[in-house]
Amino acid sequence: MNNKKNQSFTKLPAYQKLQDHYQRIKDLHMRRLFSIDPHRCDQFSLQHNDLLLDYSKNRITSNTIPLLCELARDANLEHWREAMFSGERINNTENRAVLHTALRNCSDQPLMVDGKDIMPEIRLVIDKMQVFSEKVRTGEWKGFTGKAVTDVINIGIGGSDLGPKMVYQALKPYHHQSLRLHFVSNVDGAHIEDILERLNPETTLFIVSSKTFTTQETLSNAHVARDWFMQVAQEDSAIRQHFVAVSTNTEAVKAFGIDIENMFEFWDWVGGRYSLWSAIGLSIVIAVGADNFNQLLLGANEMDEHFQTAPFEENMPVIMALLGVWYNNFFKTESHGIFPYDDYLRSLPMYLEQADMESNGKSVDREGRKVDYPTGPIVWGTSGINGQHAFYQLLHQGTKMIPADFIVSMLTHSNYQEQHNIMFSNAVAQTEALMRGRNIDETYTDIVSNTKKSSGVEKRIHHMVFEGNNPTNTLLIKKLSPRTLGSLLALYEHKIFVQGVIWNLNSFDQWGVELGKQLAKQVLSDIHQTESVTSHDASTNKLVNYYRETINDSSS
Ligand code: F6P
Repeated sequence: MNNKKNQSFTKLPAYQKLQDHYQRIKDLHMRRLFSIDPHRCDQFSLQHNDLLLDYSKNRITSNTIPLLCELARDANLEHWREAMFSGERINNTENRAVLHTALRNCSDQPLMVDGKDIMPEIRLVIDKMQVFSEKVRTGEWKGFTGKAVTDVINIGIGGSDLGPKMVYQALKPYHHQSLRLHFVSNVDGAHIEDILERLNPETTLFIVSSKTFTTQETLSNAHVARDWFMQVAQEDSAIRQHFVAVSTNTEAVKAFGIDIENMFEFWDWVGGRYSLWSAIGLSIVIAVGADNFNQLLLGANEMDEHFQTAPFEENMPVIMALLGVWYNNFFKTESHGIFPYDDYLRSLPMYLEQADMESNGKSVDREGRKVDYPTGPIVWGTSGINGQHAFYQLLHQGTKMIPADFIVSMLTHSNYQEQHNIMFSNAVAQTEALMRGRNIDETYTDIVSNTKKSSGVEKRIHHMVFEGNNPTNTLLIKKLSPRTLGSLLALYEHKIFVQGVIWNLNSFDQWGVELGKQLAKQVLSDIHQTESVTSHDASTNKLVNYYRETINDSSS
């Protein structure tokens, strides 16, 4: 058990130095920084394999990064990094190790948890996933009427859905030619119904993915799936060929009626939002095959090595994390945008919302003391190009500063190169506009040269000025492949980890999701009562009673 205690974030020696530094540079415009140092981009960019991070469009000087790195050292980042990779129980509220990195560990070295080498078990499950997936992919795995599988439905939610779904979309060019994958997460019956109505039970395979196998939404959907299937199959014995489970909870899987032979195991040291590398990635292996899944793991492992060995000043996840802390805690920004310029990465923002906010959305530190500083930002985003025609107005001319990551693929998988050129130019132009802005003189000149008129300009000009000085990171991916995707996702995982260390948080529990779950059970039972509900606050009572009356009226 790790006993090392961190000082509170605001008491770290480098914190005060950063406060002073902030006061000195907070009003500097990045335009000026670029004009003083035309080589700024060389100083503030990093390359790791096929990922290039350009962080020069940030409100930093050559003094900022050394001070931020000092902050990381003051927060004992080296110690915590080592503790995580070596399997110490750094998830102190659940008394668990945090070892998603072991799932992509390609070395032949043992990794001990509680006196046991966990690597052989990991390899066994990976082999089992690969053998099973190959059978499904080749058609050797047959349904109860002897037909091959055509459709695979992953039933899961949160980490048991977002990761596999996002990777499945991202790796579309690597998909099996004819197998179709579907992801059901929402307990709204419309979600599963919309998918099932198109499918044939004889050729459909269900993967019930749930770490705990107690999640209400997932189990409820799994029961709907089983009923739908049994209406046609009739015999319980047919379930074997159509339902598999991914879980840490063997007893609950058995209780649901899934054969343990069809269970793919993982372990409590894999957090839900860090689980796509584990058996939770089964749907990914089925979709893209074992070789591509191994490439995904390899890319992540390469980023793990980079994170463990590169000096902080040259360490991509550390730099991205520190920049986030710089804005969150000194500029007091509230949110962080994720804008992919690659349609295949369209679900990345949603995936990162869970990864980041479930990890660092905490208001007590590792020792349970209330923090007096902002922790995890609101992470949000969508496809950048669509965002340009929706909310970018606020980024450019609103009153809030929103640091953002622009994630751009350079080589496209599509056949439409000119479309890709348009997308790339938009991404880069946006970061330029956010940085430079357009001052009043430039605005005047632009209007006059575009309209050939100078009269009436004064009325509009202030609406057309851009202050600029909005920070962005640009992450260029050479080509979106399983390997580069693996590196990209591990990059964000470690960024989140570093921020958690600096804020002295346990980034690996998620107690904040429990209260709502507990109350939902109570409300569900209230809905079925015959009497009016009075046990909640007036608002909740009213909503529940109105709902009860409405559904009762509609069924009578
Ligand atoms: O409610 C939050 C959560 O526990 C997430 O952390 C997790 O990814 C998700 O629910 C799903 O949990 P499970 O895999 O146990 O069904």
